[in-house]
Amino acid sequence: MSDHGTSVLVINGPNLGRLGTREPDVYGALDAAGLAEAIRGWAEELGLTAEVRQTDDEATLVGWLHEAVDTRRDVVLNPAAFTHYSYALRDAAAQVTTAGLRLVEVHLTNPATRERFRHTSVVAGVATGTVAGFGPDSYRLALTALQGGGPHGAAAG
Ligand code: DQA
Repeated sequence: MSDHGTSVLVINGPNLGRLGTREPDVYGALDAAGLAEAIRGWAEELGLTAEVRQTDDEATLVGWLHEAVDTRRDVVLNPAAFTHYSYALRDAAAQVTTAGLRLVEVHLTNPATRERFRHTSVVAGVATGTVAGFGPDSYRLALTALQGGGPHGAAAG
């Protein structure tokens, strides 16, 4: 099966299931279910289908990236804290982009403006691109980037 170009896997990493109650002054009031609903709605408006998943588990994240490769799906990934140190996640993300699929790294906040340990992303170097700092809109912007155009989108060729 190939959903490539229309179906996007949106993957959220650790602690993002706690949105709404987790540091709302930093991450906002929208909870994880609300975010997932918004993402699915934005995707639909853009002619895409978004499957939204969240886990706190690194191995599960790696497995989902393998699945994206095997099912030929572009990925929107918020690696959360794993952004800053998970080489396993970086290596899995690299498999997505070297397979000719696109992976957009997203962040609600702009890590570059925060604590020093957040200034490093080990994922960015293998991502197609990064959107950070726009709150939930970061996901909408990432989906917009995956809509149609680009070398791997539905409008390609
Ligand atoms: C985050 C930023 C990370 O530094 C942090 O660990 C998160 C969320 C963001 O979306 O702003 O959990 O990825």
